[in-house]
Amino acid sequence: MEDNNVNRSKPYAYEIEGGVPLRGDIDISGSKNAALGIIAASVMVDGPCTLENVPDISDVKVMFDLCRSLGAIVDEIDTHTFRIDPTTINTYKASGPLVSKIRASYYLMGALLARCGKASIRLPGGCDFGQRPIDLHLKAFQLMGAKGARPSEINSGIVNLTAEPLHGAKIYLDIVSVGATINAMLAACKAEGRTEIINAAKEPHIVDVANFLNSMGAHIKGAGTDIIKITGVPFLPGNFTYSIIPDQIEAGTYMIAAAVTKGDVTIHNLIPTHMEPLSAKMREMGYQIEEGDESIRVYLNDPSDEIYSTSVKTSPYPGFPTDLQPQTVVLLCSAEGQSRMHENVWQNRFQYVPELAKMGANINVYERIAWVNGITRFMGATVEATDLRAGAALVCAALAADGTSYINHANRIDRGYEHIVQKLTSLGAKIKRVNIEEYSEEDTEA
Ligand code: UD1
Repeated sequence: MEDNNVNRSKPYAYEIEGGVPLRGDIDISGSKNAALGIIAASVMVDGPCTLENVPDISDVKVMFDLCRSLGAIVDEIDTHTFRIDPTTINTYKASGPLVSKIRASYYLMGALLARCGKASIRLPGGCDFGQRPIDLHLKAFQLMGAKGARPSEINSGIVNLTAEPLHGAKIYLDIVSVGATINAMLAACKAEGRTEIINAAKEPHIVDVANFLNSMGAHIKGAGTDIIKITGVPFLPGNFTYSIIPDQIEAGTYMIAAAVTKGDVTIHNLIPTHMEPLSAKMREMGYQIEEGDESIRVYLNDPSDEIYSTSVKTSPYPGFPTDLQPQTVVLLCSAEGQSRMHENVWQNRFQYVPELAKMGANINVYERIAWVNGITRFMGATVEATDLRAGAALVCAALAADGTSYINHANRIDRGYEHIVQKLTSLGAKIKRVNIEEYSEEDTEA
């Protein structure tokens, strides 16, 4: 629908002619990370469920295919509504290549342990932000009585877990981890007795997964705080329809795209409180941020207004989201003087900086800090989307740039942004997908 002439099974780029201020209204889609957690959680329900507001993105398609590979029946009711019947699941094994396509496949560990009492899962893939261990996930399963969760028991990249049976436990996470919090929550829902997850992550999609599970019959309290309490139940009846929350990161990306192009965009179907870390920084920089009940308008009073430099540090929710870090660095490039971005969640999340430099950015990275010197304009260039959010940052820069840019590996961006070409075009952007020559390197998930 977005581009009839492009073959998406072949390498393609986004071609962007920059310099057009974005103007108009757009709707945010369902949250990628909530959808991935919820679809995985549907595997452990004992009846069918219907999911609404499912984003039409490639990561979600992979997760549905993973569910089908386990034997679940997944029916598309319309583009954003799916019915999942997990009662036909006939295996606890997920070790094929699909597993390494998305990082969120690790949620199948908790979900299959809860459903089948066993899980045999290949270690997940994931974009290269430095180390991405799953030791905390395994520690949580071990505390609940699962066998096979010691790192030394991982065999040729496959984790073989057995619940004998799972029991409730007090789980202290020494690092705030989104994935470990959700995985522990999944396993605990059907464990015998009570589980407490202490120092839990508080991201909006954790609350959404908990709300989904509660609507299926689970007993989870405290999601969204740092202590989550779960009383295990033997059966999750399901038979419910659940609507996924809007995507905080997609919304933030469009806020930044509107700002760097000095446009005027109202973004609908978002939750303004989820955007507060970004809204506060953007106000500090001089942007006008007008909040409605479910919308945010981003604009400048006058396009010649000064944009102030600032410093940003990523941290778990309600801190500044690391998944908006690359896009925010693009925004900082448009400020006067020197700004600072401190990446506090991932060890190595500045791989996109050399790509941004090809577009004229002046950024010095020292360990986990990027010192960003303001520039007057980005210049169009051919660049690589090194991962999903890095790619989104390059899109923002290209939209603001003088001249035409080609963003290669655009499939990585399509993993997490529904109908991005169509949405940006509706705001006046000049963007299209174009097939390009074969890449030599292997594609990986971000
Ligand atoms: C999720 C998001 C990802 C986001 C990240 C942080 C999904 C599918 N992905 O990833 O987009 O960037 O949250 O908001 O929702 N850690 C450990 N041991 C573990 C697990 C994590 O040391 O067992 C460390 C990580 O190396 C990292 C930090 O904890 O430094 C946070 O990682 P985590 O919150 O687990 O990220 P993900 O759930 O993988």
